[in-house]
Amino acid sequence: MVCHLLTYMGRRIATLDDVDVENKRVLVRVDVNSPVNPHTGELLDVSRIVEHSTTIRELVRRNAAVVVISHQGRPLDQDFVGLSSHAQVLSNILGVNVNFVDDVIGPEARRAIERLEPGGILMLDNTRLLAEDTVEAPPEVHSRSFLVSKLAPFFSYFVNDAFATCHRSQASIVGFPLRLPSVAGRVLERELRALNKIIELGEKPKIFVLGGAKLDDTVKVVKHVVESGIADEVLTTGLVAVLFLLAKGVRVPKEVEAKVLSKVSREFFNEARELVARFGSVKIPIDFIVEDKGVLSVSHASTLKGTPKDIGPSTIEYYSNKLSKAKVIVMRGPAGVIEDPRFRVGTDSLVKAALESSAYTVFGGGHFIATVSRLPEELRSKVGHVSTAGGALLYFLAGEKLPGLEALARSNEIFKIAI
Ligand code: 3PG
Repeated sequence: MVCHLLTYMGRRIATLDDVDVENKRVLVRVDVNSPVNPHTGELLDVSRIVEHSTTIRELVRRNAAVVVISHQGRPLDQDFVGLSSHAQVLSNILGVNVNFVDDVIGPEARRAIERLEPGGILMLDNTRLLAEDTVEAPPEVHSRSFLVSKLAPFFSYFVNDAFATCHRSQASIVGFPLRLPSVAGRVLERELRALNKIIELGEKPKIFVLGGAKLDDTVKVVKHVVESGIADEVLTTGLVAVLFLLAKGVRVPKEVEAKVLSKVSREFFNEARELVARFGSVKIPIDFIVEDKGVLSVSHASTLKGTPKDIGPSTIEYYSNKLSKAKVIVMRGPAGVIEDPRFRVGTDSLVKAALESSAYTVFGGGHFIATVSRLPEELRSKVGHVSTAGGALLYFLAGEKLPGLEALARSNEIFKIAI
């Protein structure tokens, strides 16, 4: 049975439906962390800002004074920039003014918060300008941080909409829920409901299609979903597939082997070996599209020649046939090197097969937004959920605890918001 109440590991999380925000100051933690052009500072993808605009629009409509915080990049990285462009994009999307101050907890930020009227929006600067928001610590410790101590007194509620950062036990995620009644924003709520549904739906088979290049994290996911019985089958694609091929003892060209081994730790390579040996439900492609000295061809997986760029036609047919009978499909990571349009066939075909089935489908990773947008409307309308989360989604699917969600559940228990 699918639970109507929002829960995380059996604990209730309050939502925006459980609070009256009218004329109240509300602090909203979003995750607008976006790819940035290192030369111009321009935001290359604004899909996360589009997503969060739904929560912010609702709060404005309900006449709250809305203060928005987020991180962007990590200190010293090229995408570690301020949030003025994000505020501008948000303002364009909402069609209303979004005030911005290049300050997080200093006097300028605090004055701007105090001056903000109900119905107004203020965005503060990158929370990772504060060292506290870059370190992992328990909620009790972060609840005493400068960030939380300076900002919490101004607000009636904290809204965590940043599902994509909930795997971090950082100040702006776990610190406020112990000090303020805290609820899930609409993006976090949608993400959590979709992920809970994957686990709660009783219908089978549940098929996970796992690709991409995050090898250690994906091995953790494979292990959790096959061992716990959440997945009936795992179809591997992308570099993940080549890893499992190697783990099965199949020989691949030296350079390909070196590339895979450079991206996986010894511990998880051994784990992958154990998983393919123990679980026949972990499937490996039959063939790949390979590039060898600039020439493309189809190569059988057992006699791989050249560099794999995409899954091959027999694999597409084999996997699509399985997807056509599935009742739940979770797809994470591309099947090929989709930055190059020549190697999008595998990903596009599997997405199409998933949407043509009667399954509830969840796609993980921003690139699926582009893949899905290339499909005709009748297929697009069948998408169950597209998650914009990266690491947080992998943590969730690997069965690891998400501190941001635990903090929300705890806040509900402390402040008795939704019982
Ligand atoms: C993400 O994009 O996965 C989130 O914004 C978290 O970013 P982080 O990995 O730098 O904590």
